[in-house]
Amino acid sequence: MTAPLLKAQSARFAALDPLLPAAVAPPPGDLITAALPDGERVAGMITKTTLDPGTPQTLWSAAKVWELHPMVGSSGGAGVDALLRRWPSIVANLSPGRDSACLSTWPSRDVTATAAFLAHGFVPLAVLAVRTGGPAPSGGPSSATVRRAVLSDLDALVASAMAEVEYSTLVGGAVLRAGAANIKRETLRRHLAQGDPVWIAEVDGIPVGHVEGWHTDSARGSWAETRVRHGRWGYVNCLSVLPTARGTGVGRALMDVAHAELLGPGTVGSFLYYNPPNPVSPVFWSRQHYRPLWTVWETRPATAIR
Ligand SMILES: CC(C)(COP(=O)(O)OP(=O)(O)OC[C@H]1O[C@@H](n2cnc3c(N)ncnc32)[C@H](O)[C@@H]1OP(=O)(O)O)[C@@H](O)C(=O)NCCC(=O)NCCS
Repeated sequence: MTAPLLKAQSARFAALDPLLPAAVAPPPGDLITAALPDGERVAGMITKTTLDPGTPQTLWSAAKVWELHPMVGSSGGAGVDALLRRWPSIVANLSPGRDSACLSTWPSRDVTATAAFLAHGFVPLAVLAVRTGGPAPSGGPSSATVRRAVLSDLDALVASAMAEVEYSTLVGGAVLRAGAANIKRETLRRHLAQGDPVWIAEVDGIPVGHVEGWHTDSARGSWAETRVRHGRWGYVNCLSVLPTARGTGVGRALMDVAHAELLGPGTVGSFLYYNPPNPVSPVFWSRQHYRPLWTVWETRPATAIR
């Protein structure tokens, strides 16, 4: 049943947005089905993820996540709505606790599903935004200098990363867990050790922000294949400017340097996540030529689904 649904879903996605990848079979989970008024049947796979305490994902995700992977063929929002109607009674049989979420990722441009997600209690907590093409021209001068970070910058990088978590906790899905600074420290240390690019911005030699990113290949079976078309992509993991330096061109200066390296020849484009309720990042990324590709809809806690 699911193969024809995925094929029709791929065709619909391609017509909606040329940057969407083909729909791929979801990971194993609990299969649910629903019937539309015209008798057409749709399916969805619900997977469960339980995060280990102390892992980096706990800083942007609920500890227990039930994810719906809709396979609704060409039906779009009507198919998504039929699946979402079934979900609350399934969640009612669970004891998810407060630190939990129901989540589903759907093409941002498929606005036929937006009303259904909102009606069932979901909020658009994150967007995967994408840009293709070469580096955008810089918007203007900045007093910041940008260089590759080294291990001795670790304290400054952790302070910058924590400024981003603290801000994102106010405006999106980030969670300020106990031990967050240590999690960031170990993650940054690992990135530096394996040579992933981390750039630091300084004004008069004082650190004021940083950005992390790397290349990722979207290929058959890879995580990136579920998000972007096959090829080599730049991924921007975290951009942060300290509160006292925001709005003075530091973020732009960091991205000029990061894009020059991430968007080299052979790269299709770059992508990243931001939170739509963040009042500064959507406009910032739009000016950096990014636009929404996927919207991540969530109810937190999971029992907020209706
Ligand atoms: C988002 C962030 C990284 C942007 O960096 P920044 O150094 O403040 O941004 P810049 O000064 O380079 O501004 C670039 C553009 O962003 C917008 N912008 C950013 N901050 C702004 C502000 N305080 N007021 C008005 N516009 C702002 C403007 O459109 C500006 O374009 P312009 O200079 O051509 O007018 C920074 O504000 C920040 O760290 N915010 C908190 C953490 C965060 O949201 N991180 C991103 C997570 S995805």
